[in-house]
Amino acid sequence: MRVLVTGGAGFIGSNFIRFLLERHPSYQVVNLDKLTYAGNLERLRDVASNPRYEFVQGDICDSALVGHLMREVDAVAHFAAETHVDRALMDPGAFITTDVYGTYVLLRAAHEAGVKRFLHVSTDEVYGEVPPGRSSREDDPPAPRNPYSASKAGAEMQVSAFHQTYGLPVVIARPANNVGPYQHPEKVVPLFVTNALQDLPLPVYGDGRQVRDWLYVEDNCEALDLLLHQGTTGQAYNIPAGNLRENVYMTRLLLKLLGKPESLLRFVEDRPGHDRRYCMDGTKLRTLGWAPRHSFEQALEKTVAWYLDNRWWWERIIQTSQFQDYYRAQYERRLRPGQAPPPSNSVHRAERA
Ligand code: NAD
Ligand code: DAU
Repeated sequence: MRVLVTGGAGFIGSNFIRFLLERHPSYQVVNLDKLTYAGNLERLRDVASNPRYEFVQGDICDSALVGHLMREVDAVAHFAAETHVDRALMDPGAFITTDVYGTYVLLRAAHEAGVKRFLHVSTDEVYGEVPPGRSSREDDPPAPRNPYSASKAGAEMQVSAFHQTYGLPVVIARPANNVGPYQHPEKVVPLFVTNALQDLPLPVYGDGRQVRDWLYVEDNCEALDLLLHQGTTGQAYNIPAGNLRENVYMTRLLLKLLGKPESLLRFVEDRPGHDRRYCMDGTKLRTLGWAPRHSFEQALEKTVAWYLDNRWWWERIIQTSQFQDYYRAQYERRLRPGQAPPPSNSVHRAERA
């Protein structure tokens, strides 16, 4: 089988390509990636010379290029997107272009070329925030609350429409928050690990009691591979880890794992429209035989170990002017003395589903 992976130079896409090549020794992989600030071929330097792997630099919005590539593949795993909520608050337009329009370009080309499978990688964020005690099921209506999740929900609607209208064999995956090797250092876990290693403050938004479900990227890749092959066409599947934790709890564990003092934890001005809690029901995917292999602690321990062992990768990124400019825009004012909101006086605890 020949698989077109979009966004394969990104965090999850690169882990998925490595997984596909190892798991399926006869598969060929074409990686289409624009190499935005988030894309980085060093993530794939170990597979770059593999004869079953090919890289094409290009934009998923380029219909001529996409049409050409689509005629040469059997299946698509679509990861390419603008992915960071904080950046969506600064420039929502880029998210609509890539996540919505780019997905449409891929769908149209996939339909015209007659691809046998289109795995669309969506997110738990399409459900919006979920009240305590509840978990999102696949048939719950979308209720996105920020420009990133709204774009991802828009993309999903297009995917479903192409299935309903043209019978395109799509499967939608909704993973939770991934952690693991090669995540860009502007996302929270790598940002906090790399800041802590530099004895810089860890900027926790608001009171830090927002709940996320932490999924180790290898577990996600296993689930995505299963859905690529065995997901029912036209269906959506949640990919939860069952590792629900408050952000401040996650932060304290990182500090502990790194042997750094709690004084590095800094409560800062909240993210506008910050979703309080995500939590998905995983029954549907479990019936296909998948279960995550990593507990919260294992996922964080392995992630921390990887960043300690791979300074070559992230030190180069955080030294770029692109990263420094972003960091200043995002945190300079927040971290100025006198800007921090008082932390919640609640007892911080682990939340378990
Ligand atoms: P990432 O930001 O690390 O990588 C995105 C990749 O897409 C980059 O390599 C980038 O260069 C590429 N890209 C961006 N715009 C493009 C365009 N117009 N054409 C071609 N390539 C383009 O993202 P990630 O964290 O690996 O996320 C991958 C997918 O998984 C996304 O669709 C995201 O919405 C989804 N997702 C991510 C998480 C998470 O925790 N990271 C959780 C759930 C869902
Ligand atoms: O839930 C899945 C989503 O997870 C994916 O769909 C997105 O692509 C992925 O980027 C991630 O969402 P965010 O963009 O919100 O990830 P981020 O790492 O920025 O934030 C995770 C949580 O940590 C969130 O509650 C905000 C908080 N946070 C984040 C940063 C960067 C902080 O408290 N401080 C920070 O400095």
